Amino acid sequence: MSDSLRVESLTKDFAGLRAVDGVSLGVEQGEILGLIGPNGSGKTTTINLITGLLNITSGRVMVGDQDITGWAPHRIARSGLARTFQVVRLFEEFTVRENVEVAAIAATGANRSVAREQANRALVQMNIAHLAETQASVLPQGEERIVEIARALATNPRFLLLDEPGAGLNDAEIEQFLPMLHRIREETGCGILIVDHDMRLIMNLCDRLHVLNYGQTIAEGTPDEVRSDPDVIEAYLGAEVAA
Ligand SMILES: Nc1ncnc2c1ncn2[C@@H]1O[C@H](COP(=O)(O)OP(=O)(O)O)[C@@H](O)[C@H]1O
Ligand SMILES: [Mg+2]
Repeated sequence: MSDSLRVESLTKDFAGLRAVDGVSLGVEQGEILGLIGPNGSGKTTTINLITGLLNITSGRVMVGDQDITGWAPHRIARSGLARTFQVVRLFEEFTVRENVEVAAIAATGANRSVAREQANRALVQMNIAHLAETQASVLPQGEERIVEIARALATNPRFLLLDEPGAGLNDAEIEQFLPMLHRIREETGCGILIVDHDMRLIMNLCDRLHVLNYGQTIAEGTPDEVRSDPDVIEAYLGAEVAA
């Protein structure tokens, strides 16, 4: 079954500010789409709209042929969308395994033993089985981010939305991310929408890129097409290279 996550003419107004302005994009299962753009360009808001954390001003979100616009976040999670947050949110007093299990139970309604199997599989997929009994509060930031992805994977997502998974990680940690995310795509067949500022990660990982600036789409295409697009260089890549 081929499936897609599609966003059609998505718009979000905050008081006096159009944060997302008529954005249309799609991610196929098995595809990795990079959503990039300067700070404040509407990337996180787009993910929040897709996952139901914010009410949509206008536009539609479709998963396959199901219209999920206006659904509550837990119902959207059960339709197969899982996400991570730009600022990591773990239960500090729980172990890594418990954090991942709780996510599986919350998103899929699985019973404890099924959730445990799903959690174990996600821990292996993310190469962190050895951390299962570690309390979340003692994890370094790099491992917290990996646990967050394991939590999302344990819900058996059809689509995985990652908001700056590379933020706060060093080069070596980002280096490990690439094969890990490729492997997730191969093993689960899920579609991945990833927001990140690390251009090496984005350019090497993504099949296609979608570029936002002031809430509007300014370019879409392959990494090579987008990399050489003058509008993208002016709005974003120039600044990234200079930074
Ligand atoms: N809850 C909110 N209320 C008001 N304005 C917001 C809110 N969330 C985001 N914004 C504004 O919307 C714009 C897009 O923000 P955001 O989606 O977080 O950008 P990005 O993730 O691309 O850095 C910014 O101008 C931001 O200040
Ligand atoms: Mg953001």
